[in-house]
Amino acid sequence: MIEVKNLNQSYTKHGKKKTLENINLTVKEKAITALIGPNGAGKSTLLGVTANLIKPLSGMVMINGIDVRNIKTDELAKKLAILKQTHNINIRITVKDLVEFGRFPHCGGRLTDIDKQKVKESLEYMNLVGMEERYLDELSGGQRQRAFIAMILAQDTPYIFLDEPLNNLDIKSSVEMMKIIKSLVTELDKTIVVVLHDINFASAYADYIVAMKNGRIAGEGSMEEMITKEVLDEVFDHDFNIVTHQGRNVCLYFDRTFNRRKIYEVI
Ligand SMILES: Nc1ncnc2c1ncn2[C@@H]1O[C@H](COP(=O)(O)OP(=O)(O)OP(=O)(O)O)[C@@H](O)[C@H]1O
Ligand SMILES: [Mg+2]
Repeated sequence: MIEVKNLNQSYTKHGKKKTLENINLTVKEKAITALIGPNGAGKSTLLGVTANLIKPLSGMVMINGIDVRNIKTDELAKKLAILKQTHNINIRITVKDLVEFGRFPHCGGRLTDIDKQKVKESLEYMNLVGMEERYLDELSGGQRQRAFIAMILAQDTPYIFLDEPLNNLDIKSSVEMMKIIKSLVTELDKTIVVVLHDINFASAYADYIVAMKNGRIAGEGSMEEMITKEVLDEVFDHDFNIVTHQGRNVCLYFDRTFNRRKIYEVI
């Protein structure tokens, strides 16, 4: 179980401006939690602190009752895998090399037969068979994204954090990705926290939704509780229309009024 308790974080000296303010959260086990909220709300920072990659100002994160700061790095890497929003890999490596990286916490660089099997399964799961020897810079953005998720899968952790995994994906690929993420829960019992900007994907696939705004949790609950005009207008400071389709709330967020003067003022 992952529990976030009274968490505060700041990137400024002496904690002058808080990026996270009094966050309390218990991550739902064996479910998809979608983390939504506007740019700069603190979503990536919250994932980073929870994964012990960013230091908090105060408060703590517990995994199965143990403070993450007291868990050794390679032990933590067997419990929690995180796909960051931007992955800075500057070396020229193949898809297979990348996915093998996911096994490092388990094998320390010397792949056993079990590790090789996990790599194979992850490549298959992410539909990358036949692309193993391709270099990452030879792939489309969407294919590369799948390769990174295969690496996360190979890490074989009960907890997976995905920061905007739909980046670079077209609509069909986004749907496929969300189905894969769903199957990780239903078939492999994973616990997933996923940052999504398209609220309709959160509405369609998440079991639980947490909304952030200005470093705070602005609300959390089921699709029915969270995908409402009242909640979303406030969180995103925008005028939403919510319709219901096949039992799911769908957001329409297009503003087709065109005000030349206003746009000119913005520019
Ligand atoms: N390394 C950093 N140093 C200083 N400030 C940072 C750093 N990373 C993020 N911030 C600031 O912290 C705040 C929260 O950023 P964060 O990346 O957590 O937001 P986010 O909700 O993930 O946004 P987005 O949807 O744009 O990815 C923002 O104001 C951002 O400018
Ligand atoms: Mg982010």
